[in-house]
Amino acid sequence: MPDPNRFLRGPFAPVEEEITAFGLPVTGSLPAGLNGRYLRNGPNPLGLDDPGYRFWEGYWFLGPGMVHGVRLRDGKAEWYRNRWVRSQALAEAMDEKWPGGPVHAGMDFAANTHIIAHAGRYLATVEAGPLPYELSGELDILGPCDFAGTLPGGFAAHTKLDHATGELHAIAYYWAWDHVQHVIIGAGGTVSRTTDIPVADGPMMHDFALTPGYVVLLDLPVTFSLDAASAGVKLPYTWNPAHQARVGLLPRGGTAAGVRWFEVDPCWVFHTLNAYDDDGRVVVDLVRYAGAYDDDGRVVVDLVRYAGAYDVSKLTGHGPLSLDRWIIDPAAGKVTQQRLDDRPQEFPRTDERVTGLAHRYGYSAVIGAVGHANVSPDGDFADEAFSDALLKHDLTAGTVQAHEFGQDATAGEAVFVPAAPGAAEDDGYVMSYVHNPDRGAADLVILAAQDFTAEPVARVHLPARIPLGFHGSWIADP
Ligand SMILES: [Fe+2]
Repeated sequence: MPDPNRFLRGPFAPVEEEITAFGLPVTGSLPAGLNGRYLRNGPNPLGLDDPGYRFWEGYWFLGPGMVHGVRLRDGKAEWYRNRWVRSQALAEAMDEKWPGGPVHAGMDFAANTHIIAHAGRYLATVEAGPLPYELSGELDILGPCDFAGTLPGGFAAHTKLDHATGELHAIAYYWAWDHVQHVIIGAGGTVSRTTDIPVADGPMMHDFALTPGYVVLLDLPVTFSLDAASAGVKLPYTWNPAHQARVGLLPRGGTAAGVRWFEVDPCWVFHTLNAYDDDGRVVVDLVRYAGAYDDDGRVVVDLVRYAGAYDVSKLTGHGPLSLDRWIIDPAAGKVTQQRLDDRPQEFPRTDERVTGLAHRYGYSAVIGAVGHANVSPDGDFADEAFSDALLKHDLTAGTVQAHEFGQDATAGEAVFVPAAPGAAEDDGYVMSYVHNPDRGAADLVILAAQDFTAEPVARVHLPARIPLGFHGSWIADP
């Protein structure tokens, strides 16, 4: 049985204070054109003695969000800040006044999964119903955001920007709905369109994909479980072998009646890398968990075995996981699957300027601690599969480069930042928070994407650890 406290220890261990530090030391040289903020979200319980947190132990997804940010300008690292997202409960626990704001279905939560910018707002996001939280550029928490009352329910953390229109696309799901909802938030910051798509069983939809032709929906067999909810599980979504795995194409601008569904093998997908239209077909690259079943198709895990300490490994299943490609062919009515890379990896990202367009490059992370804790509680993978590295995929050449950081130098998700607005794909930088074991604190590491295995261009030395977390964004100055 996996250690139920593994998400509280080592590189996952929460930090205990908020810090504001100015004039950060840098090794190497920060590119002068990098003007903006790198912000990253992740769970960070207030304290390990918090009686509420004891209930969550072992479950990585449920800690309140903390945003870690670094401000770069004119070749200098101006500041580092980390701030808890103040939900009402968290603000009260911190003896502060809650900033207040709208709440969807009584689900106020310190959004812990991603941080994005849209329509001049910095937004911490989370799935399964709660609204996003808005932050200032200095990471002060401004309160929940429902886009001036236009958002019916919270949307899941992963959003896609349509660069042609400036519209932000999102998928909302919530256990009490008999549908999922595609949401478009206009460049002006109000919801301009919602489309309800009927689905059975209340599936979790952590991510999706967007092309010029379609919204690509992942309806996979991780669904709401009344048994788990009754047992007190706080995120009661479990592997459901009775739920047909399928991928759906919602035509852009179309209605729910226009969605076409295509069956796929049982699997779980947290993240897509990107998708694009290709001569009538749709290509989707994604990190795919092969499911919670063995080679004979038997379910090998009991998803509600730990009622009070729900186990994320039971969500992702037995493995393996790999970077795969689905080619959805509406004319043939089927999906073809290809293996792009079989190294266990997560947090796939592209140069976001190619969202929805054919991409050549992708970047992902191989995080030892996450792999061991999440993917391989039973030791299915060898240690070397989980060394700490960032990967760069050239999907045209079929090659992968690894920037290895070493065993205790855990790297989180990396984001790509173009060298200039008109730079070619991959002409730019790959940045991530990486633990520096020599200092016992994190560095913001900046790699030159086109010299990926070389020494970093710059390392910004931060004054504290940053626990392993989830997703972030480079938000360039306007
Ligand atoms: Fe995610």
